[in-house]
Amino acid sequence: MWTIGGGPASSTLGIEERADVPSISVSEKGSIKTPISKESSAQEEPELEGIIPPPAGLIIEISAALAARPLKAKTIKTRLKLEHPNLMKIDIKRFKEPINTIHNRSIIATPVPDFQTQAKYCKPSSSPKMAIPVIDFSKLNSEERAMTMAQIANGCEEWGFFQLVNHGIPVELLEKVKMVSSDCYKKEREENFFKNSTPVKLLKELVDKKTGDKLENIDWEDVFLLSDDNEWPIKTPEFKETMTEYRAEVKKLAEKLMEVMDENLGIPKGYIKKAFNGGEGDTAFFGTKVSHYPPCPNPEMVTGLRAHTDAGGVILLFQDDVVDGLQILKDGEWIDVQPIPNSIVINTGDQIEVLSNGRYKSVWHRVNAKPDKTRRSIASFYNPSYNATIEPATEIVKEVNEFGYPKFRFGDYMSVYTEQKFLPKEPRFQAVRTTTLEVSR
Ligand code: OGA
Ligand code: NI
Repeated sequence: MWTIGGGPASSTLGIEERADVPSISVSEKGSIKTPISKESSAQEEPELEGIIPPPAGLIIEISAALAARPLKAKTIKTRLKLEHPNLMKIDIKRFKEPINTIHNRSIIATPVPDFQTQAKYCKPSSSPKMAIPVIDFSKLNSEERAMTMAQIANGCEEWGFFQLVNHGIPVELLEKVKMVSSDCYKKEREENFFKNSTPVKLLKELVDKKTGDKLENIDWEDVFLLSDDNEWPIKTPEFKETMTEYRAEVKKLAEKLMEVMDENLGIPKGYIKKAFNGGEGDTAFFGTKVSHYPPCPNPEMVTGLRAHTDAGGVILLFQDDVVDGLQILKDGEWIDVQPIPNSIVINTGDQIEVLSNGRYKSVWHRVNAKPDKTRRSIASFYNPSYNATIEPATEIVKEVNEFGYPKFRFGDYMSVYTEQKFLPKEPRFQAVRTTTLEVSR
């Protein structure tokens, strides 16, 4: 085993500098040169807990001599998963050609963003009681309106996630939604998930290989999507009627919330809705995703839903009454979104971040797989229409005198998002920065 020691500079890579390991320098090109030393694999590894996400994944170039031609050095490029931000072990057996000497006592390593691995290193919440804000939405129509508005502003600014109770969607309707969704899953989906789905097949293959690897590119999730013009599941009585009624209620709630956000952001009433509807009318996309996260025999090897931020506008999630699993990343810690029966979890997506010029940030979240329970969750998305132009609201930009985000067509953003959903969002904003719309402002 070869061990590379060194802690990258915190400013460039977002890593805490540690006193117990030597720093490695980051060159202007963004590559790091790190000393290499031959040490045993038994070297003591620092504690993982509390570490700010590492860059996770390094492309390294090493100059090595092959066993067959000891005098000929060869540069080998490889991509390695970082096992620890400050310590990387390279097992030279992993190279296809046998190596007997590593020539240079230096290695060029380029950090590669890999959020999924970074996310793994974020510690679980150290304060188990830390919970996302719970807000009584009915108080908006009482003498406690100002306080409720402030709570929602805080939920949007500090958390990106909050839960609403007394939101106005009738409890009888919610009870029916739970019933028909679970019924539909049992009748029309569950058997197929365990018999034929890709995650089940891939997990089984990986378990059989016994490599200790994790399934990185798939979610342990069963999903079906509802929108006005989609095909609906047909074998479950009352599914369509119930979900149509629910979607109408939850859409009304989304529109109310957008007005609250308008007011809190100091922009004209109806601004967000109008922006998402491309100026006027009712062209915004309103979709509902019915998810079930089935029990998983190896929950440590796969994620229910990999970490991501949501692409669109306002997301309203009706999650399981008892089975948890949803977590948000706050200040480097994963925090549970605690189940509260019949509450609605609200979060804001990338487009609200743009429109608010960064005041309301879209927040990373993920769903953990569970060993023994099925978790149901129904997410409804109020998103811009594909043709809507999204840009920071003028009134908000005026306050800081700076456009923090580009102007783009939402459809163009979605083309990038589809490819990069599970990666950091900043490159997505960069990718749509160069469109012609930008020039017109
Ligand atoms: C999503 C999502 C969370 C959940 O669909 O984007 O984050 O609990 N869902 O299913
Ligand atoms: Ni999401």
